[in-house]
Amino acid sequence: MTVTRKIGLSLGADICWPACYEQIVDKLALAIPWQGDTVNIAVERVTIEPFDLQQPCQYDVVLDRLTHWYHTSREWIKKAILMDGLYVLNNPWAVQSMEKHTSYCAMMKLGMPIPTTWMIPPKAYEPTPDLAPTLKSYAKLFDLGAIGNAIGYPMFMKPYDGGGWRAVSRVADESQLRKRYEESGKGVMHLQAAVNPFDSFVRCIGLGPQTHLVKYMPDEPLHDRYSQEQNFVSADEAKLLEDTTLTINAFFGWDFNSCESLRKNGVWHPIDFANPCPDSQVTSLHRHFPWLVKANIRWSVFCAVTKKPMRKTLDWEPFFAVDPEMPYRERLSAYAKIAAERFETARFEEFCAKHLPHLDEVAWEFFGTEAAKTAFRAKVTALFPKHEVEQFTELFWRRVQAWRSDTQVSVK
Ligand SMILES: Nc1ncnc2c1ncn2[C@@H]1O[C@H](COP(=O)(O)OP(=O)(O)OP(=O)(O)O)[C@@H](O)[C@H]1O
Ligand SMILES: [Mg+2]
Repeated sequence: MTVTRKIGLSLGADICWPACYEQIVDKLALAIPWQGDTVNIAVERVTIEPFDLQQPCQYDVVLDRLTHWYHTSREWIKKAILMDGLYVLNNPWAVQSMEKHTSYCAMMKLGMPIPTTWMIPPKAYEPTPDLAPTLKSYAKLFDLGAIGNAIGYPMFMKPYDGGGWRAVSRVADESQLRKRYEESGKGVMHLQAAVNPFDSFVRCIGLGPQTHLVKYMPDEPLHDRYSQEQNFVSADEAKLLEDTTLTINAFFGWDFNSCESLRKNGVWHPIDFANPCPDSQVTSLHRHFPWLVKANIRWSVFCAVTKKPMRKTLDWEPFFAVDPEMPYRERLSAYAKIAAERFETARFEEFCAKHLPHLDEVAWEFFGTEAAKTAFRAKVTALFPKHEVEQFTELFWRRVQAWRSDTQVSVK
């Protein structure tokens, strides 16, 4: 029997990757033999509308980009996971409740070298009825200078639930610390020792069991932060960074997430890894953009065709059961093994080899077409002033074409 599995794209301001994703899936013309059936894939954009909690969901997999801020979609997704067996990237309960703070605590407990981090009560409050008695009875006066000395300078002050570089500041000394705290208002802040100086900064993007390392240049303008450099880490470091990301992603049920790590004295310190709606735009990713689109297709098609069950609870116990006395790299391998089980890495790789062998070539061809360029231009138009649109469309186009030239041999 021929059956169709439906993949829904739950989108906000994304323009470029969905257009490329849809067109490449279309060109793949999938008819996958699976357990006696022939499985086709249909891709559709999810609309926002009222829903009956009992109404069935037409999708098998949803790629979601709204959960972290658009609550109607998030709650529709929760209903569909619980009631209709939907598989979603990412687990909406984990997106909602696991802020940066929880991610630091959990990964410190697993032994990752996260820099020393403190939380401090906020400087200002929303006046609520219980506030005055609570603070009067229990809030202890504290010496910010002493905390600063305990952490050491420079440090970073940043929101415990941060994202998008909001309210992040570098603090060089005690007077700056006091000033920044005065300015922090109602924000609940972390103070985190700077990894200083660092000699390399890497973002590792994880999508299901797939990973991609990018050298990151935080001081460059947005379109140059993801560097085009390659081979910037040793094979051993790459494995460490990949296993770190897969551990975090499996732990939190974030199939799609990115992990930032800084290297100092040969040690990689993860500093920001609660990013469950990573940047997916060609305007930041350029050369790395085709990887993202292909990884998204592989993982979503695998989950849709195999009807991979969504893990509704996170089940952290197996991670904590790994012997904390073992050397760190052995522990990390043990965590990565749990991740490989949860992401079904071996089964996924076999599936891709058997059912998606033409993806690389189809995508390689697509990223050389006018249709791809049109998708790039649409995103550039949304972000850049009118007089820069052509110039930046060309820039991102050229970088993707450079990727095509570099990968031509392996694809053709
Ligand atoms: N401990 C640290 N040591 C060195 N640099 C840091 C540290 N913490 C933050 N930074 C710098 O500040 C930037 C923003 O911090 P962080 O990534 O934690 O915030 P964010 O709001 O999650 O940012 P984004 O969403 O853009 O990644 C980092 O990219 C890095 O350049
Ligand atoms: Mg960051």
